[in-house]
Order: sequence, then C-alpha cells, then structure tokens
Amino acid sequence: MSYRPISELLTAENLDTLARARECAEKFVRPFAAEWDRTAEYPWSAIEGLKRYDLFRVWIPKEYGGAGGGVLNLCLAVEELSRACGGFGVLYAVNALGSFPIILGGTPEQKEAWLPPIAAGEKLIAFGLSEKKSGSDAGSLRCRAEKKADGYTLNGTKKWNTNGGAADIYTVYASTDPSRGGRGISAFLIEKGHPGFVIGKREDLMGIRCVPVHELAFEDCLVGRHQLLGGREGHGFANAMATLDRARPAVAAQAVGLAQGALDLAIAYARDRQQFGQSVLSFQATQFLIAEMATRIEAARQLVYAAARALDLGARNVGKLAAMSKVFASDTAMEVTTNAVQLFGGYGYCRDYPIEKYMRDAKITQIYEGTNQVQRLVIGRALTRESVDDPKVERPVADREEAPDVATPPTMPVGA
Ligand code: CAA
Repeated sequence: MSYRPISELLTAENLDTLARARECAEKFVRPFAAEWDRTAEYPWSAIEGLKRYDLFRVWIPKEYGGAGGGVLNLCLAVEELSRACGGFGVLYAVNALGSFPIILGGTPEQKEAWLPPIAAGEKLIAFGLSEKKSGSDAGSLRCRAEKKADGYTLNGTKKWNTNGGAADIYTVYASTDPSRGGRGISAFLIEKGHPGFVIGKREDLMGIRCVPVHELAFEDCLVGRHQLLGGREGHGFANAMATLDRARPAVAAQAVGLAQGALDLAIAYARDRQQFGQSVLSFQATQFLIAEMATRIEAARQLVYAAARALDLGARNVGKLAAMSKVFASDTAMEVTTNAVQLFGGYGYCRDYPIEKYMRDAKITQIYEGTNQVQRLVIGRALTRESVDDPKVERPVADREEAPDVATPPTMPVGA
C-alpha cells in the first residue's frame, strides 16, 4: 500500500530524510489524524515526534544548528508527513516559511539568535504577511510600524496566520513608510507574549483542522531596533516574495503527499471491494483512472523536485518554477483526491472513512501561499520578461535596481 520512491533519483541524504519523515508519520501522525480533524486539537505529541526524528533541522543552514538540507529535503519530509495528514504537513512546513525570511535577509546576529532554537525544535515560527484587505495584493498591506527613538511601534492586524497561537516567533511585515508603497514595507521578528502583540480569533476551517489559523493584532506594540529584519527598512516586500519563492515548492510537496496518500487508500479499497463478482480494482475503468492519478502525481512530484533543486543550487529566475510546481501539484491534489472519494463510492462521502478528509485538506493548497491565479500571474510575467531580449531577466528580481523594461500584466483581483 505504500508508495515507493525512485531511490536511484535521490541521494543518501534525501533517502535518510524521507525514511525518518515516513517513520515519524506512521508512528506519530497517521494513527491520530482523524481525531485531530474531529477535535481540531493541536498535535503536540507529533511535534515531539518531529523532534525525535530531528526534522526541524532539515532546511536550516549548518552554521546555525541545522542539517543544511535545503528546499529539496524539506519537500521530501513535507510530502511524507502529508501522506499521513495534510494538516500536519503544513504545520511542519510553515516553520520553514517563517524562518526563510531570516535565512534570506537576517543579519548574522539575528541568524545566530533566532535560527538555532528553531532547528532544535525548541521554538515554532509563523509568517505574518496577509491582512483582511490585503491578500493577493500583498504590497497593499496596512499594518504600520512607526519609528521611535528606541525602536518601532506596530499598530494593525494580520489575517490567515497559520500555526498562529502555537508558534513562539512571528515574522511580521509592516509598513515603515506608507508613502513608498511596497518599497516602504519592512519585516520584524516578534515573540509571542510581547507587550501589545495579541493572538486574535481562530478560524473554523474546512480542512487542515489540526493547524490553528489565527488573526493577529498589534496594539502600540513597541519592538526594539534589533527586531527589524536585516537591520534595514524597506526591504520587506522583496524579502517576502523571495521567501514565497522558496516556500511554494513545500506547499506543492504537501499537495503531492496528500494526493499520494489518497491514491494509496483508494487502491487498497478498490482491491478489497467486490462488486459484480470481482474486485473493483480489476475493472478496466478503475485501472485507467488509477493510472491517470498516479501519472499526474509522479509528474507533480518531479516538478517539485526540480523547483527545489533549482532553489538549492542557486539557479536564477526560480520564482516561475516554484509557482509552476505549486499550480500543478495543488490542481493535481484536488483532482486526485476527488477521484479517490469517487472510488470509495458512498463510503467516500462518509466521515467513517479517511478519504474525504484528503479532499478537504487538498482544497487549501490551491489557495494559500498565493492563490493559483497569482501563481499563473507570476509564471505569465516571467514568460513576458523572457520574451524580450532583456539581460536583466538573467538576474534574480531581487538584485535588480529597477523594474523590468516590459509591460507588466495587471494583477487579477482574485482569491485571498
Ligand atoms: N523576489 C524578490 N523580489 C521580488 C520578487 C521576487 N520573487 N517578486 C517581486 N519582487 C520585487 C520587485 O522587483 C519589485 O521591486 P521594486 O519595487 O524595487 O521594483 C517589487 O518586489 C514589487 O514587485 P511587483 O510589482 O511584481 O509586485 P506586485 O505588487 O505586482 O505583486 C504578486 C506581485 C506576485 C501578485 C505578489 O503580491 C504576490 O505574490 N501575491 C500573493 C501573496 C501571497 O502569496 N500571500 C500568501 C501569504 S502566506 C499564507 O498564505 C498564509 C500562511 O501562513 C501559509
């Protein structure tokens, strides 16, 4: 019933990460996933599992207490955890989303102070970019950070904070200069319990129900200058975008894991289910359906690995590949999990069986960390830039001093 990776395509380190994540998932996640989904309780016991299998170190650089496994090893771990529970997969992955801003843009002192406790699993971290009125148009955020003699005072709210309340550290984006739009956004590192920082309402979600998603509020929240990420104002938006480029393959890996988990269950069910005197799996219609599902999952997986490897090797212009992996894997997960419910027939629609949870968990992968419409926008803009003979295209967007000299298609008013 278990999916077997093509081990020849992976390194010994990759296979070790995958094996540890698989064992952790089977012992600490799968047996409890249905209960967490029903009660929406936080899976603290499985956080202990992640620590026991040393999985928080995976993506953190070696010099800061990590394993230096990069995005590919992160994706392998997320996929295996998500095969057992999509909610738990993202609960793990958002720690990478929260810490990439520090890895990419922190000062050496900030990296030294904040990354080792995350690597050791002592502190969980979350990412605060979206707001009630600022979702796809992330540059329009309104949370304000006003400069004071001894630091910055934050006022405003954040929305859709995954792992909110449970996390100890929050990477928070706020405007230090509203007159400069996106170029006035800065990032701050703030700990739970900091005066003026309030964990707000918890959302009642359709899926990924073991992960708390909260509003955050900042009420005259005074933070020190050492909490300004990178020690510089105005670099927050580019930092958030570069972070999302690294984190989107992990959402794609969550989608691949979900889809694979659903396919594994559907095949086992169809094999045991007898109708018209034979196993449902033996019908050609079923064979064609599972062949299609498996082929799409494998294509999505290899695209995730390609995007992750490109990021780890420092390839240029990787935002396009990261977006492609997220679009393709999440659309695949939605299609595969829906077909898996169909293969279970009436039982698939029942909470007594584990399969409908996969379909509910899959839906969010098409929405968060940038809707799939935003991903298509990112891909389309990259293709537009590549279509002109512009040497700036060969450099990462963050390195450019000015915007590309081509017409940019407008942002679509869609989704989050
Ligand atoms: N890397 C570095 N810099 C980048 C960049 C990248 N990938 N993409 C853009 N930038 C820079 C540009 O160079 C530009 O810099 P200058 O101002 O110096 O010229 C600046 O950022 C603005 O770029 P754009 O004009 O392209 O920005 P835009 O306003 O048109 O927005 C967008 C582009 C792709 C739509 C972006 O807003 C976006 O990704 N939106 C979706 C946001 C998102 O994913 N939110 C999810 C948050 S996390 C979550 O879901 C919850 C959770 O906890 C899981």
